[in-house]
Amino acid sequence: MTSILITGIGELTTNDDELGRLASAAIVLDGDRVAWVGSAASAPDADERVDVAGRAVLPGWVDSHTHLVFAGDRTAEFEARMAGAAYQAGGIAVTVGATRAATDTELADGLRRHLAEAAAQGTTCVETKTGYGLTVEDEVRAARIAAEQADEVTFLGAHLVPPGTDAREYLDLVCGPMLVAVAPHVRWADVFCETGAFDEEQSRRVLRAAADQGLGLRVHGNQLGRGPGVRLAVEEGAASVDHCTHLADSDIAALAGSTTVATLLPACDLSTRQPLPPGRELLDAGATVALASNCNPGSSYTSSMAFCVATAVLQMGLSVEEAVRAATWGGARALRRETGDGAVGVLRPGARADVHVLDAPSVTHLAYRPGVPLTHAVWRKGMRVR
Ligand code: NIG
Repeated sequence: MTSILITGIGELTTNDDELGRLASAAIVLDGDRVAWVGSAASAPDADERVDVAGRAVLPGWVDSHTHLVFAGDRTAEFEARMAGAAYQAGGIAVTVGATRAATDTELADGLRRHLAEAAAQGTTCVETKTGYGLTVEDEVRAARIAAEQADEVTFLGAHLVPPGTDAREYLDLVCGPMLVAVAPHVRWADVFCETGAFDEEQSRRVLRAAADQGLGLRVHGNQLGRGPGVRLAVEEGAASVDHCTHLADSDIAALAGSTTVATLLPACDLSTRQPLPPGRELLDAGATVALASNCNPGSSYTSSMAFCVATAVLQMGLSVEEAVRAATWGGARALRRETGDGAVGVLRPGARADVHVLDAPSVTHLAYRPGVPLTHAVWRKGMRVR
């Protein structure tokens, strides 16, 4: 195992309560773990030395919400939306058709390309979902392909009732044979609780069946309007409820009093011409907030976590520190990976060696210079990927 001393760090964001934010810092990676963090003046020696010349260093982005096992393109739908058409859950069916028609190799190659694109921008931990297969065979295939490449995989058979299918029969399939077949490949299950997708009763059924199968829970909720999604997620003990665009005061209070993370997806809200989620209000109320890209071909075709951070600061009232924490530690918390050996979203001894070096002296530049590619170097599991 090779050890690497990264020194000359102008500003080090650790997300560790004891270490805090350090100036003139250094960090040692040993294999796939962080071995040491502290002042550059007292840094131990290592096999290799990399001087980052005063640049800012932070944990790699943790993108806790993507849909990357897909084929096809929805540029025409995006153009129609920009001309005034509304985003509708039914667009998912277009990607389902293209995904079913693709070969395993095409799906795996597409996933690899998107993960590489994200890594080149500093993303080192990615959750991705099924949900564009919607048959037992196609959902198992998506889960298997995802599990070969992504850090975390979520079963989203309850993404949409496939057109022409009876809702009751489809739900029986999702909560029965499909769940059983997909479960060995995934850690999480999710449901799109929204008008046009699944109602509260249906969603609760999916979540309870998944919990009985031993899976952790996530919910797509309150994306297109107020509804039961957030309350349901909290009641069922979901690790995260994602979107949270249209929240009642009672939703914010429920999140603040829970361990369910509010995962905000601002790139999706911009692309679907929705308002931005109330990130400031959630933080002020005491809720835990994550930022994620929601990279998918329909509602949010970007892998840029820096764009999400800049939007959260410029348009949602988060400080740079809050937004960076939400896109690193917050995502890790939403995936229950923020503590212990191999934790992500933090830089402390024992954490996974996922390091993002900015071509800037401070994280402030992420919002101060929006749209500028600021990733200078990236290590994932101790390997230089950029
Ligand atoms: O998170 N909301 C549901 N699922 C995705 C959209 C997927 C699609 O439109 O293809 C989302 O936005």
